[in-house]
Amino acid sequence: MKKNILITGGAGFIGSHVIRLFVNKYSDYQIVNLDSLTYAGNLENIKDIENAANYSFVKCDIRDMDALKAVFIKEKITDIIHLAAESHVDRSITGPMDFITTNIVGTANLLDLARNNWDSADDHVFYHISTDEVYGSLGAEGFFTEETAYDPRSPYSASKASSDHLVNAYAHTYGLPVKMSNCSNNYGSHQFPEKLIPLMINNIRHSKTLPIYGTGENVRDWLWVEDHAKAIDVIFHKGKLGETYNIGGWNEWTNIDLVKLLCQIIDEKLHREIGTSEKLINFVTDRAGHDMRYAIDASKIKNELGWEPSVQFEEGLIKTVDWYLANEDWLGAITSGAYQTYYKNFYEKKS
Ligand code: NAD
Ligand code: TYD
Repeated sequence: MKKNILITGGAGFIGSHVIRLFVNKYSDYQIVNLDSLTYAGNLENIKDIENAANYSFVKCDIRDMDALKAVFIKEKITDIIHLAAESHVDRSITGPMDFITTNIVGTANLLDLARNNWDSADDHVFYHISTDEVYGSLGAEGFFTEETAYDPRSPYSASKASSDHLVNAYAHTYGLPVKMSNCSNNYGSHQFPEKLIPLMINNIRHSKTLPIYGTGENVRDWLWVEDHAKAIDVIFHKGKLGETYNIGGWNEWTNIDLVKLLCQIIDEKLHREIGTSEKLINFVTDRAGHDMRYAIDASKIKNELGWEPSVQFEEGLIKTVDWYLANEDWLGAITSGAYQTYYKNFYEKKS
């Protein structure tokens, strides 16, 4: 059966890398990118492949079941890789409802379409992309494994945990052919500059203050986004139905150390005296309910599917900085208008 794969959220950060990989690598698949183009969605992210014969784009909101169904039927969708989501924790704290409708109801709509339209005798995959944040927060020791009990603590992670539960419930109850992965923090090109790394790069570039929440001792595990896209490719093709795979970089950094490293890289690139940008660091009011540490045990995907991260962090960070410095137009367009209002309203309250 020819594969017509619906990839949701393909105009966003990770989705654009997944779309690019699948369109370029699998000319025999038809890739349908479905995205409602929220503030985080940007067709510029995938401009290089927009004219590919095996690619099409549909503007559609996953909360709109009728519109979604029309796409599903018209495009004869055989598989789904579901990335569309509201993804920023801070926004989920200031306004949780879009997270609940998109991440939970939107996922339920896709699951129900697949349940009602796929013949179980055929070869289909519903692949749900999720986050390590569903597992909660770690202390100084230990790692999240696929067996770790769910303990989401922000509206974002709770909405993703709900969607994960729905995916597993559809597999258990209806036999829907599902796969799932829970990944740590991604970094790389085309990430919206509300997330830590691109926000800091943009601020350092423009000599603006660098807002570090709380003490800056919170720890995140960082993974090069193209390595995540490769893991998604491997799981989609080789992962077992009904299984979950944790994806991570084995690469933990405190926020403060990471921001200091970025300052040093950018000072060098911009021929500033080393230490110039570190002076911009400003410790601000902590995020409400701020998770202390995330760390992934990515042994299962390595042992069972042979995937492991390929890009070393400093190398990936330099590539990321280079991309943002070379793409001032992309960044300038995104950080004008509504972004200015968001930034002012959010960060002025914090300082
Ligand atoms: P992103 O915010 O950059 O992109 C999300 C995309 O989804 C955007 O293009 C947006 O327009 C689209 N979208 C949002 N609401 C929609 C709706 N109602 N209907 C249709 N499209 C909609 O997010 P990202 O960082 O690329 O994350 C993608 C997925 O990966 C999410 O499911 C997220 O939970 C998961 N994830 C992200 C990370 C990370 O570090 N960014 C880590 C692990 C998992
Ligand atoms: P973020 O990129 O929002 O990802 P997540 O919260 O999903 O892990 O934030 C990464 C870490 O950086 C997190 O501990 C919060 C912190 N942070 C700051 O200290 N300052 C900032 O301006 C932002 C956006 C994040």
